Amino acid sequence: MPKEEGVSRVSFSLSPQLLSEFDNICETMGYEERSKVLQMAIRNFITESELSKQSDANAIGTILVLYNHEKRGIDQSLTDLGHTYRKLIISSLHIHLESENCLNIIVIRGEVKKIIELEQGLRKISGIIQLKFSYMVAKALES
Ligand code: NI
Repeated sequence: MPKEEGVSRVSFSLSPQLLSEFDNICETMGYEERSKVLQMAIRNFITESELSKQSDANAIGTILVLYNHEKRGIDQSLTDLGHTYRKLIISSLHIHLESENCLNIIVIRGEVKKIIELEQGLRKISGIIQLKFSYMVAKALES
């Protein structure tokens, strides 16, 4: 890899279809430089990979919980879990999306192993339509 001014140049192969999908998304999202988008994607990939193996590290991020509130007991289950992990949860926001569907946005900060426990607890609750996790392992948060 030739290096110049702190930047490594790399080349790799992609299928034309994958490249086309990537370029379409970049255009839709208003990104003008492929390399900036790839840097961001690689950083996210590294962060996600780091998360699973650094159980003692600290992370900060959000959990999105889309669920049907008419499903019996689901609000109670979510509230119970929230109280169990109250030290991890900085804040949460509840949005009534439609007549039956709700979105909870949960902001968390704490040890990765506790975050993984909370994720597992959420996966056990029936009636959740979609879960999305997004974290950054923050070196500055480590004490
Ligand atoms: Ni609601």
